Amino acid sequence: MTGLLQDGAMPAGPLLSVDALCVQFDLPGAKATLKAVDGVSFEIGRGEIFGLIGESGSGKSSVARAIMRLAPIAAGAITLAGTRLDQLQGRELRRHRRRVQMVFQDSSDSLDPRMTVRQAIAEPLRMQDAPPADAGGLVASLIQRVGLDESHLDRKPHTLSGGQKQRVNIARALALSPELLVCDEAVSALDVSVQAGIINLLLSLQQELGISVLFISHDLGVVAHLADRVGVMYLGRLAEVASAEALTSRPRHPYTEALLAAEPEPRPSTHRAARPPLIAGEVPSAANPPSGCRFRTRCRYVRERCAAEQPPLRPVDGGGLVACHFAEELVLEGRRA
Ligand SMILES: Nc1ncnc2c1ncn2[C@@H]1O[C@H](COP(=O)(O)OP(=O)(O)OP(=O)(O)O)[C@@H](O)[C@H]1O
Ligand SMILES: [Mg+2]
Repeated sequence: MTGLLQDGAMPAGPLLSVDALCVQFDLPGAKATLKAVDGVSFEIGRGEIFGLIGESGSGKSSVARAIMRLAPIAAGAITLAGTRLDQLQGRELRRHRRRVQMVFQDSSDSLDPRMTVRQAIAEPLRMQDAPPADAGGLVASLIQRVGLDESHLDRKPHTLSGGQKQRVNIARALALSPELLVCDEAVSALDVSVQAGIINLLLSLQQELGISVLFISHDLGVVAHLADRVGVMYLGRLAEVASAEALTSRPRHPYTEALLAAEPEPRPSTHRAARPPLIAGEVPSAANPPSGCRFRTRCRYVRERCAAEQPPLRPVDGGGLVACHFAEELVLEGRRA
């Protein structure tokens, strides 16, 4: 159980709100800055799995790193259950930072090869001001919680499979009872069958611990399967936010439609002719993004207004949010049946 349900009362409001976040990097040499994240807002509810998708360079990791206070926040607010994470410093920052824990893609690099699994999971507990009295018992329950058993505790990382290492990383992340788990491409390097095991583990953590998850991946299929709601990022901005169901069955942004069309067929189909690609060309440079709508240079529905006016992320009927001037007029195609 996370610390959330103390006194039986669930505090009101979202667990995390990200409000008009900008993450900016100075480009060495050039007298310019790169806006990796440019005005992104979303909320994650308590016990919600929120997915973030988008092509490489769209700013997904920069959002995650800003929440972890590992990326430079140029503007905006990040609030965790009423606490402004973006304004914390020093001891207060350390105290609150443990409430959000991150799991990365590279499971081999994130575990120290000299440490046993037991030491790796116990490490975050040891670093606390007041380590728990029964750290050994806690480590044993954590290893079981992630679907491994105590026989794994004395092993070194190199004797574990990729999926087992990622389970150890999750156990380590859970050691401090975080309220939010940030998974940045946490399953991307794993085989599909191993991915499924980790995804089921995350779902059980959501259901049994009530933990919230920010799940980042470039794989729309994986995100749509796991997440309650999904944000679609393009060049540092959100193009669309909707429930996973609505996003895949009735996309409202041309970029989401294009991502769905680019998904591989679930199984080989002999009946269907290959559809022409809806998304042409490369992602423009984030250092020099297009005027108006950032997707307009690759959008098959582009009109004059798109270059002149940046579309705000706004509510549309059906409950989602979309940043397209013409969302009401366009009839977009969802995922192939
Ligand atoms: N430390 C940095 N210094 C300069 N630019 C950076 C830095 N980190 C990220 N960027 C730039 O910010 C933009 C967003 O990068 P980010 O890593 O957040 O994207 P992403 O969506 O996570 O991509 P990927 O799918 O490849 O992981 C990119 O243009 C990237 O080159
Ligand atoms: Mg990334």
